[in-house]
Amino acid sequence: MTQMFEVMPDSHVVTISRFLVDEQRLHPEATGAFTDLLQDIAVAAKVIGREVNKAGLADILGSSGDENVHGEQVQKLDVFADHVIRKALDHTGLVACMASEESEGLISIPEKFPAGDYVVIFDPLDGSSNIDVNVSIGTIFSIHRKRSKDDRGTLDDCLQPGSRQVAAGYVLYGSSTMLVYTSGAGVHGFTLDPAIGEFLLSHPQMRFPEQPQKVYSVNEAYFNRWDPQQQQLVTHLKNDAGFSSRYIGSFVADIHRTLLQGGLFMYPADNKSPQGKLRLLYEAAPMAMIVEQAGGRATDGCRTVLEIEPQTLHQRTPLYMGSRQFVDLADSFF
Ligand code: AHG
Ligand code: MN
Ligand code: MN
Repeated sequence: MTQMFEVMPDSHVVTISRFLVDEQRLHPEATGAFTDLLQDIAVAAKVIGREVNKAGLADILGSSGDENVHGEQVQKLDVFADHVIRKALDHTGLVACMASEESEGLISIPEKFPAGDYVVIFDPLDGSSNIDVNVSIGTIFSIHRKRSKDDRGTLDDCLQPGSRQVAAGYVLYGSSTMLVYTSGAGVHGFTLDPAIGEFLLSHPQMRFPEQPQKVYSVNEAYFNRWDPQQQQLVTHLKNDAGFSSRYIGSFVADIHRTLLQGGLFMYPADNKSPQGKLRLLYEAAPMAMIVEQAGGRATDGCRTVLEIEPQTLHQRTPLYMGSRQFVDLADSFF
Protein backbone atom coordinates (compact mmCIF):
# COMPACT_ATOMS: atom_id res chain seq x y z
CA MET A 1 0.00 0.00 0.00
CA THR A 2 1.75 3.21 -1.06
CA GLN A 3 1.69 5.95 1.56
CA MET A 4 -0.83 8.67 0.67
CA PHE A 5 -0.03 12.35 1.23
CA GLU A 6 -2.56 15.10 1.85
CA VAL A 7 -2.97 17.01 -1.40
CA MET A 8 -2.17 20.67 -0.90
CA PRO A 9 -5.40 22.70 -1.26
CA ASP A 10 -5.66 24.86 -4.33
CA SER A 11 -3.24 27.44 -2.98
CA HIS A 12 0.43 27.96 -3.69
CA VAL A 13 3.31 27.70 -1.27
CA VAL A 14 5.06 31.03 -1.82
CA THR A 15 8.10 31.73 0.31
CA ILE A 16 9.14 35.33 0.93
CA SER A 17 12.19 34.64 -1.25
CA ARG A 18 10.02 33.51 -4.16
CA PHE A 19 7.69 36.49 -3.65
CA LEU A 20 10.58 38.97 -3.64
CA VAL A 21 12.09 37.47 -6.80
CA ASP A 22 8.69 37.62 -8.55
CA GLU A 23 8.25 41.23 -7.39
CA GLN A 24 11.74 42.05 -8.63
CA ARG A 25 10.81 40.84 -12.13
CA LEU A 26 8.33 43.75 -12.28
CA HIS A 27 11.30 46.13 -12.13
CA PRO A 28 13.65 45.36 -15.05
CA GLU A 29 16.09 47.95 -13.73
CA ALA A 30 16.33 46.14 -10.37
CA THR A 31 19.78 44.91 -9.42
CA GLY A 32 18.49 42.44 -6.85
CA ALA A 33 19.98 44.44 -3.98
CA PHE A 34 16.58 45.21 -2.48
CA THR A 35 15.57 41.55 -2.73
CA ASP A 36 18.76 40.56 -0.94
CA LEU A 37 18.23 43.20 1.76
CA LEU A 38 14.68 42.04 2.54
CA GLN A 39 15.87 38.45 2.69
CA ASP A 40 18.62 39.41 5.13
CA ILE A 41 16.04 41.20 7.29
CA ALA A 42 13.86 38.08 7.19
CA VAL A 43 16.80 36.00 8.46
CA ALA A 44 17.34 38.47 11.32
CA ALA A 45 13.64 38.20 12.14
CA LYS A 46 13.92 34.41 12.42
CA VAL A 47 16.91 34.68 14.75
CA ILE A 48 15.18 37.25 16.96
CA GLY A 49 11.97 35.19 16.92
CA ARG A 50 13.86 32.15 18.13
CA GLU A 51 15.13 34.06 21.18
CA VAL A 52 11.77 35.73 21.81
CA ASN A 53 10.05 32.37 21.80
CA LYS A 54 12.33 31.03 24.49
CA ALA A 55 12.64 34.25 26.53
CA GLY A 56 10.41 32.75 29.21
CA LEU A 57 12.85 29.90 29.61
CA ALA A 58 15.79 32.17 30.33
CA ASP A 59 15.83 31.39 34.05
CA ILE A 60 15.14 27.68 33.63
CA LEU A 61 17.99 27.48 31.15
CA GLY A 62 20.23 28.96 33.79
CA SER A 63 20.99 32.18 32.00
CA SER A 64 20.74 34.28 35.14
CA GLY A 65 22.61 37.56 35.57
CA ASP A 66 25.06 38.42 32.85
CA GLU A 67 26.29 34.99 31.85
CA ASN A 68 24.42 31.93 30.61
CA VAL A 69 25.44 28.29 31.06
CA HIS A 70 27.79 28.60 28.10
CA GLY A 71 29.52 31.59 29.66
CA GLU A 72 28.02 33.76 26.91
CA GLN A 73 26.90 37.27 27.60
CA VAL A 74 23.13 37.35 28.18
CA GLN A 75 21.71 40.60 26.80
CA LYS A 76 18.39 42.34 27.21
CA LEU A 77 16.27 41.21 24.30
CA ASP A 78 16.24 44.77 22.89
CA VAL A 79 20.02 44.83 22.80
CA PHE A 80 20.17 41.28 21.44
CA ALA A 81 17.72 42.12 18.64
CA ASP A 82 19.67 45.29 17.82
CA HIS A 83 22.88 43.26 17.58
CA VAL A 84 21.27 40.61 15.35
CA ILE A 85 19.99 43.15 12.84
CA ARG A 86 23.29 45.02 12.67
CA LYS A 87 25.25 41.79 12.18
CA ALA A 88 22.82 40.54 9.54
CA LEU A 89 23.24 43.70 7.43
CA ASP A 90 26.60 45.38 8.11
CA HIS A 91 28.77 43.10 5.92
CA THR A 92 26.38 42.71 2.95
CA GLY A 93 27.54 45.69 0.88
CA LEU A 94 23.84 46.66 0.58
CA VAL A 95 23.71 49.26 3.35
CA ALA A 96 25.22 52.76 3.52
CA CYS A 97 24.42 53.26 7.21
CA MET A 98 21.86 52.34 9.86
CA ALA A 99 20.08 53.90 12.82
CA SER A 100 18.40 52.13 15.73
CA GLU A 101 16.32 52.99 18.77
CA GLU A 102 19.11 51.32 20.78
CA SER A 103 21.85 53.57 19.41
CA GLU A 104 22.12 57.29 20.18
CA GLY A 105 23.90 58.14 16.94
CA LEU A 106 24.39 56.95 13.37
CA ILE A 107 25.51 53.33 12.89
CA SER A 108 28.23 53.39 10.22
CA ILE A 109 29.32 50.38 8.19
CA PRO A 110 32.74 49.19 9.43
CA GLU A 111 35.54 50.21 7.04
CA LYS A 112 36.40 46.54 6.42
CA PHE A 113 33.00 46.03 4.76
CA PRO A 114 31.72 47.51 1.47
CA ALA A 115 28.84 50.00 1.74
CA GLY A 116 25.72 50.06 -0.42
CA ASP A 117 22.82 52.35 -1.27
CA TYR A 118 20.24 51.54 1.37
CA VAL A 119 19.66 53.16 4.75
CA VAL A 120 17.97 50.91 7.32
CA ILE A 121 16.40 52.48 10.41
CA PHE A 122 14.83 50.16 12.96
CA ASP A 123 13.19 49.57 16.30
CA PRO A 124 14.76 46.18 17.05
CA LEU A 125 12.28 45.23 19.72
CA ASP A 126 9.01 47.12 20.11
CA GLY A 127 6.81 46.65 23.16
CA SER A 128 9.67 45.68 25.47
CA SER A 129 7.49 46.12 28.55
CA ASN A 130 5.49 43.13 27.36
CA ILE A 131 8.36 40.66 27.06
CA ASP A 132 8.16 39.38 30.65
CA VAL A 133 4.41 38.82 30.49
CA ASN A 134 4.50 36.88 27.22
CA VAL A 135 2.47 39.43 25.29
CA SER A 136 3.21 40.01 21.60
CA ILE A 137 6.18 42.20 20.73
CA GLY A 138 7.66 43.25 17.41
CA THR A 139 10.42 44.69 15.24
CA ILE A 140 9.91 47.67 12.92
CA PHE A 141 12.11 48.66 9.96
CA SER A 142 12.23 51.57 7.55
CA ILE A 143 14.30 51.55 4.35
CA HIS A 144 15.49 54.65 2.46
CA ARG A 145 17.87 55.07 -0.45
CA LYS A 146 21.00 57.09 0.40
CA ARG A 147 20.75 60.63 -1.00
CA SER A 148 24.12 62.05 0.07
CA LYS A 149 27.12 61.95 -2.24
CA ASP A 150 29.28 60.19 0.36
CA ASP A 151 29.99 56.59 -0.48
CA ARG A 152 29.15 55.81 3.14
CA GLY A 153 25.89 57.09 4.60
CA THR A 154 25.56 60.21 6.72
CA LEU A 155 23.10 61.40 9.36
CA ASP A 156 21.31 63.37 6.64
CA ASP A 157 20.60 60.10 4.82
CA CYS A 158 18.60 59.02 7.89
CA LEU A 159 16.71 62.31 8.25
CA GLN A 160 14.46 61.81 5.21
CA PRO A 161 10.67 62.23 5.35
CA GLY A 162 8.59 59.05 5.42
CA SER A 163 7.32 59.81 1.91
CA ARG A 164 10.81 58.96 0.62
CA GLN A 165 10.90 55.47 2.12
CA VAL A 166 11.49 52.75 -0.48
CA ALA A 167 10.06 50.14 1.89
CA ALA A 168 8.82 49.61 5.43
CA GLY A 169 7.81 46.61 7.46
CA TYR A 170 7.37 44.96 10.79
CA VAL A 171 7.75 41.55 12.40
CA LEU A 172 5.16 40.47 14.95
CA TYR A 173 6.30 37.85 17.45
CA GLY A 174 2.84 36.68 18.47
CA SER A 175 0.96 33.39 18.47
CA SER A 176 2.77 33.06 15.17
CA THR A 177 5.68 35.08 13.82
CA MET A 178 4.63 37.28 10.93
CA LEU A 179 6.60 39.56 8.65
CA VAL A 180 4.57 42.32 6.97
CA TYR A 181 6.12 44.75 4.48
CA THR A 182 5.40 47.15 1.65
CA SER A 183 7.71 48.44 -1.07
CA GLY A 184 5.04 50.76 -2.43
CA ALA A 185 3.02 48.14 -4.29
CA GLY A 186 0.64 47.04 -1.56
CA VAL A 187 1.16 45.39 1.81
CA HIS A 188 2.05 41.71 2.03
CA GLY A 189 2.07 39.44 5.09
CA PHE A 190 4.14 36.30 5.58
CA THR A 191 3.76 33.76 8.37
CA LEU A 192 6.74 31.77 9.61
CA ASP A 193 6.40 28.01 9.37
CA PRO A 194 8.87 27.06 12.11
CA ALA A 195 8.96 23.46 10.92
CA ILE A 196 10.71 24.51 7.71
CA GLY A 197 12.03 27.92 8.84
CA GLU A 198 10.34 29.73 5.96
CA PHE A 199 8.13 32.81 5.88
CA LEU A 200 5.18 31.79 3.67
CA LEU A 201 2.85 34.29 1.95
CA SER A 202 -0.30 34.19 4.10
CA HIS A 203 -1.79 37.69 3.67
CA PRO A 204 -1.30 38.99 0.10
CA GLN A 205 -2.40 42.60 -0.58
CA MET A 206 -3.50 43.47 2.98
CA ARG A 207 -6.16 46.21 2.98
CA PHE A 208 -8.17 47.88 5.74
CA PRO A 209 -11.69 46.37 5.79
CA GLU A 210 -14.35 48.44 3.99
CA GLN A 211 -16.57 47.95 7.08
CA PRO A 212 -14.02 48.54 9.87
CA GLN A 213 -14.66 47.47 13.42
CA LYS A 214 -15.40 50.47 15.62
CA VAL A 215 -12.42 50.03 17.90
CA TYR A 216 -10.19 52.76 19.30
CA SER A 217 -6.79 52.01 20.77
CA VAL A 218 -5.20 54.47 23.22
CA ASN A 219 -3.78 54.45 26.75
CA GLU A 220 -6.65 56.16 28.57
CA ALA A 221 -4.67 56.39 31.81
CA TYR A 222 -3.34 59.68 30.41
CA PHE A 223 -6.85 61.15 29.84
CA ASN A 224 -6.32 64.00 32.31
CA ARG A 225 -3.06 64.97 30.60
CA TRP A 226 -4.64 65.36 27.15
CA ASP A 227 -5.78 68.64 25.63
CA PRO A 228 -9.56 69.21 25.55
CA GLN A 229 -10.00 68.24 21.87
CA GLN A 230 -8.36 64.87 22.51
CA GLN A 231 -10.60 64.34 25.55
CA GLN A 232 -13.69 65.27 23.51
CA LEU A 233 -12.67 62.90 20.70
CA VAL A 234 -12.33 59.85 22.97
CA THR A 235 -15.49 60.75 24.90
CA HIS A 236 -17.33 60.99 21.56
CA LEU A 237 -16.00 57.61 20.41
CA LYS A 238 -17.12 55.98 23.66
CA ASN A 239 -20.42 57.68 24.36
CA ASP A 240 -21.85 58.65 20.97
CA ALA A 241 -20.14 56.57 18.32
CA GLY A 242 -20.44 53.15 19.95
CA PHE A 243 -16.74 52.28 19.80
CA SER A 244 -15.11 49.51 21.81
CA SER A 245 -11.53 49.73 23.10
CA ARG A 246 -8.48 47.50 22.60
CA TYR A 247 -4.99 48.44 23.78
CA ILE A 248 -2.10 45.96 23.96
CA GLY A 249 0.67 48.43 24.64
CA SER A 250 2.83 46.97 21.86
CA PHE A 251 2.67 49.33 18.90
CA VAL A 252 3.28 46.56 16.35
CA ALA A 253 0.52 44.35 17.82
CA ASP A 254 -1.95 47.24 18.12
CA ILE A 255 -1.34 48.31 14.53
CA HIS A 256 -1.47 44.76 13.17
CA ARG A 257 -4.90 44.27 14.77
CA THR A 258 -6.04 47.68 13.47
CA LEU A 259 -4.88 46.77 9.96
CA LEU A 260 -6.73 43.44 9.96
CA GLN A 261 -9.97 44.49 11.70
CA GLY A 262 -10.05 48.26 11.19
CA GLY A 263 -10.01 50.83 13.96
CA LEU A 264 -8.26 53.96 15.18
CA PHE A 265 -4.90 53.85 16.98
CA MET A 266 -3.85 56.96 18.90
CA TYR A 267 -0.77 57.95 20.82
CA PRO A 268 -1.59 61.63 21.49
CA ALA A 269 0.56 64.42 22.82
CA ASP A 270 -0.06 65.21 26.47
CA ASN A 271 1.02 67.85 28.96
CA LYS A 272 3.98 65.71 30.04
CA SER A 273 5.02 64.58 26.53
CA PRO A 274 4.15 67.41 24.14
CA GLN A 275 5.35 65.29 21.18
CA GLY A 276 3.78 62.05 22.45
CA LYS A 277 5.93 58.95 22.97
CA LEU A 278 6.35 57.18 19.62
CA ARG A 279 9.41 57.92 17.52
CA LEU A 280 9.01 59.23 13.99
CA LEU A 281 11.84 57.50 12.16
CA TYR A 282 11.46 53.90 13.34
CA GLU A 283 7.90 53.66 14.62
CA ALA A 284 5.51 56.24 13.10
CA ALA A 285 6.94 56.68 9.57
CA PRO A 286 7.36 52.98 8.63
CA MET A 287 3.93 52.14 10.02
CA ALA A 288 2.46 55.16 8.22
CA MET A 289 3.77 53.86 4.88
CA ILE A 290 2.20 50.47 5.56
CA VAL A 291 -1.09 51.97 6.75
CA GLU A 292 -1.39 54.27 3.72
CA GLN A 293 -0.46 51.46 1.31
CA ALA A 294 -3.28 49.42 2.88
CA GLY A 295 -5.80 52.22 2.27
CA GLY A 296 -5.67 53.86 5.70
CA ARG A 297 -4.35 57.21 6.98
CA ALA A 298 -1.70 58.35 9.44
CA THR A 299 -1.44 61.88 10.86
CA ASP A 300 0.09 63.67 13.83
CA GLY A 301 -3.27 65.37 14.42
CA CYS A 302 -2.47 68.09 11.89
CA ARG A 303 -0.17 66.76 9.16
CA THR A 304 0.27 63.50 7.28
CA VAL A 305 3.03 61.62 9.10
CA LEU A 306 4.84 60.85 5.84
CA GLU A 307 5.33 64.59 5.17
CA ILE A 308 7.10 65.34 8.45
CA GLU A 309 10.70 66.42 7.83
CA PRO A 310 12.80 64.78 10.58
CA GLN A 311 15.26 67.00 12.50
CA THR A 312 16.78 64.38 14.82
CA LEU A 313 17.05 60.57 14.87
CA HIS A 314 14.88 59.97 17.93
CA GLN A 315 12.31 62.71 17.63
CA ARG A 316 8.81 61.83 18.73
CA THR A 317 5.43 62.58 17.15
CA PRO A 318 1.81 62.41 18.23
CA LEU A 319 0.10 59.71 16.18
CA TYR A 320 -3.36 58.92 14.79
CA MET A 321 -3.48 56.00 12.36
CA GLY A 322 -5.92 53.42 11.08
CA SER A 323 -9.08 53.24 9.02
CA ARG A 324 -9.39 56.29 6.79
CA GLN A 325 -12.87 57.25 7.98
CA PHE A 326 -11.81 57.11 11.64
CA VAL A 327 -8.67 59.22 11.14
CA ASP A 328 -10.84 61.73 9.24
CA LEU A 329 -13.18 61.78 12.26
CA ALA A 330 -10.22 62.38 14.60
CA ASP A 331 -9.01 65.21 12.33
CA SER A 332 -12.38 66.92 12.68
CA PHE A 333 -11.73 67.36 16.40
CA PHE A 334 -8.42 69.18 15.90
P1 AHG B 1 9.55 50.27 22.72
O1 AHG B 1 9.38 49.01 23.51
O2 AHG B 1 10.22 50.07 21.39
O3 AHG B 1 10.14 51.38 23.52
O4 AHG B 1 8.07 50.77 22.31
C1 AHG B 1 7.10 50.82 23.27
C2 AHG B 1 6.00 51.73 22.81
C3 AHG B 1 5.03 51.07 21.84
O5 AHG B 1 5.32 49.73 21.57
C4 AHG B 1 3.69 51.16 22.55
O6 AHG B 1 2.69 51.58 21.67
C5 AHG B 1 3.93 52.22 23.62
O7 AHG B 1 5.30 52.14 23.96
C6 AHG B 1 3.10 51.99 24.84
O8 AHG B 1 3.33 53.10 25.68
P2 AHG B 1 2.46 53.27 27.03
O9 AHG B 1 2.92 52.20 27.95
O10 AHG B 1 2.77 54.66 27.49
O11 AHG B 1 1.00 53.14 26.64
MN1 MN C 1 8.92 50.76 19.89
MN1 MN D 1 12.07 49.24 21.02
